[in-house]
Parts: sequence; structure tokens; C-alpha cells
Amino acid sequence: MPPVGLLQLAVSGGEVSGLQDGQSSSSKQGGPVGGEALGHLIETTDELVVQLNQDLTACHGPMVIPMVSSTAAAGRSLAAMAFPERRMRRLRRTPALRRLVAETRLGVDDLVLPAFVRQGIDEPRPIGSLPGVVQHTRESLRKEARRLVDLGVPGLLLFGVPTVKDAEGSQAFDRDGIVQLALRDVRDEVGDALVLMADLCLDEYTDSGHCGVLDASGQPDNDRTLDLYGRVALAQADAGADVCAPSGMMDGQVAAIRRALDGGGHEQVAIVAYAAKYASALYGPFRDAVDVSIAGGGDRRGYQQDPRNRREALAEVQLDLDEGADVVMVKPALAYLDIIAALRAAVDIPVAAYHVSGEYSMLKAAAERGWIDHDAVALEHLTSIKRAGADLIFTYLAAEAAEVLQG
Ligand code: PBG
Repeated sequence: MPPVGLLQLAVSGGEVSGLQDGQSSSSKQGGPVGGEALGHLIETTDELVVQLNQDLTACHGPMVIPMVSSTAAAGRSLAAMAFPERRMRRLRRTPALRRLVAETRLGVDDLVLPAFVRQGIDEPRPIGSLPGVVQHTRESLRKEARRLVDLGVPGLLLFGVPTVKDAEGSQAFDRDGIVQLALRDVRDEVGDALVLMADLCLDEYTDSGHCGVLDASGQPDNDRTLDLYGRVALAQADAGADVCAPSGMMDGQVAAIRRALDGGGHEQVAIVAYAAKYASALYGPFRDAVDVSIAGGGDRRGYQQDPRNRREALAEVQLDLDEGADVVMVKPALAYLDIIAALRAAVDIPVAAYHVSGEYSMLKAAAERGWIDHDAVALEHLTSIKRAGADLIFTYLAAEAAEVLQG
């Protein structure tokens, strides 16, 4: 088959770049396509079109892809479409024009708010490194859920902060663990108006601060941890979660959770898999939010992904798909837009991105100093995450962004 990419370039005229060797050296350097080079380009492309039509006709019946020379002769010549006839600024002239041609639309419907609920407190507690975010009481979380519904935000992701931690993280799957209680509260408060998601991991609940139960070497024991994840999934689903969101990066976690959910009669509970989750320094403020520090100053590089890798993310996602993920997530977001775009191209299911605590805190800190315009940068960042290919965005900015978007 001829290279269709080249055809598209040639047919679209004007901007000719990325040509293959021998086609046009002047255009490769970004200059205008000269008459001779253009003639050659059209000829070569027409040959490719003829070949393409033959190939396609053999497979699909008669094809009608026009040859480039006829396109050029029938209308304007390709060269005439360049400046000054072609002016990109025409469509940027007024706000209404810009709205009409906008390729990306960020809306309230895209947003999920991650929130923290802490056991055993009477007042919400501010989180120093996450200005504007609190550890909720059960009561204040109910109010927050109500506010989200009023703002039109469709999703809420819950993290729990228990009073007691142990080796297995048993509060994560206790029927009366803080997240399970909060799920029941919020469901009672808002019914189905919010999609209730529960982060499914053990790090908030283990005394080691790791995402699983440890083996003799002090690293999470993958397979024993999977059993516990299954129990957490059941507890969350029993408490009314619409979605379990496994974030622990254990191999096989999606399959183990799907099996546990289906075995417990929760076929309808969906899995939003933190599929491409990187070992990022941008999670720093989150660890304050959930009072987690890894014992002995360890890190999660033994299970989360290496930020240097891209192909590995595609392999992770393929596995999660095969194991039954309903949505795949990339985390963090802004430094990983290439990964979001790669996933969007690779899968048919929704792609989520998590704009994480450090991304939020950097924005807040710079805005607090008056160095940047908070709302403008917030919208630019979230829009860029959407443009890269995310269908839904987890962000601590969800409520504020909803206010700006609707205001
Ligand atoms: C693990 C988990 C983390 C985050 C979400 N789920 C922390 C980690 O992996 O160390 C980070 C979220 C954020 O930084 O906003 N349960």
C-alpha cells in the first residue's frame, strides 16, 4: 500500500512538511513549495493515488479518490493557497468566531473531584500543601457532595484517612472503614446524582505506607496484596460505590478486582484503572493529605512506572484492558500529555487523566504570589489535558473550575 500520510499531506496543499527523501528539499526546510518541486510532488502523488485506487478497488469495489492534478486544476492551485490568500488569523478575529472553530471544549461534565474523608474529627482540617482542600468530616463531605451536584460536577473520588493503620491495611476493607461509611453517607445525600468512586489501594491504611502487604524484602507482595484488593473492592461495592479505582500498580489487580466484584454480585460496578501511573514526585502534597509516609524513607519505584518510559505505559494499558478495565487512567497529567495522547490513540474505552496534588499546589503557590492568573492558568491546563485526549479529568480544581465554566 502507498503511504497514505504522504497523500494527505499533498492533497491538503499549503503546508508541506515531513516529505520523504527526494521529494522536495526546499519544502522540507519549511519554504514555499516551488513550481518544479510542486509539479514533481503532484506527479508522484498521482501515481500513488492510481495505485491506491487499484488496491482499494480490489478490496472494496470502485474507488473515487481524485487525483491531485485534477483537484489542483479544478480549483485553486496548491501554491495559491499560501499566504497572502490564506490567512489563519481570519478565524481568530472575534470571540464568537473562536468559539465556533474551537477544537476542544472543556466542560463541567468532564470533571471528577478527589476528596479526603478523615475518621474521628469534628471539624474539617485544612491541608497545608493543598490550599483550599481539606480532610473532610463525614458531615462536611456530605455538604461537599451536595455542592458538587449543585455545580453539575458528575464525579467524586474518595480517599480515606483512618485512625488506625496495620500491616494489612484492614480498615480499607472493614465494613465500617471510613470510606465505606462515607460512601453510604454520600449516597444517602445525593442518590445517583454523583458517580461515587473509591480509590482502591492500601497505602492510606498500612503502617508501612506501601500500597500492599510487605514481603520479607520490605516490598509489597504482589499476589497476597491482590487478595486484599479483592476484599477492598467488595467492601466498597457493598457500601454503594459505582466505581472502584485501583491505584496500587500491582500486576493483575484489575483481573483480581473484577473477579471479586463479579463473585459478589457486583457486575455493574465499574473499574477505572490507574493504568499508567508513574512514580512521580508530584504526589508530595497528597501524602500530607492522607498522612502517609513510607516507612524508612522508601519509595514506590518498585511498582509504579518509570517516568522515562512510554511504551511501557501502552503495555500496562493493554494488560488492564485484557483484565477488564472500563476506563484507563494516566497519572500525573501535565507532564504526561504524550502518554494521554498515545492511550487515546490506542484504546476505544474512555481515557482519564489525574491532575495530581503537586500540579494543583504549584498553580496555587504561583497564583498566591501574584505571579500567574489562577483561573486562566487553571483552565489552560485542564483544557490542554482534554486536548491531549482525556475524556475525564480528576482534579482538585473541579468545583472551582465548574464555577468558572458556568460563570
Ligand atoms: C495511592 C494514590 C496516590 C495518589 C492517588 N492514589 C499516591 C501515591 O501513589 O503515592 C496521588 C494523588 C495525588 O497526588 O493527587 N493510593
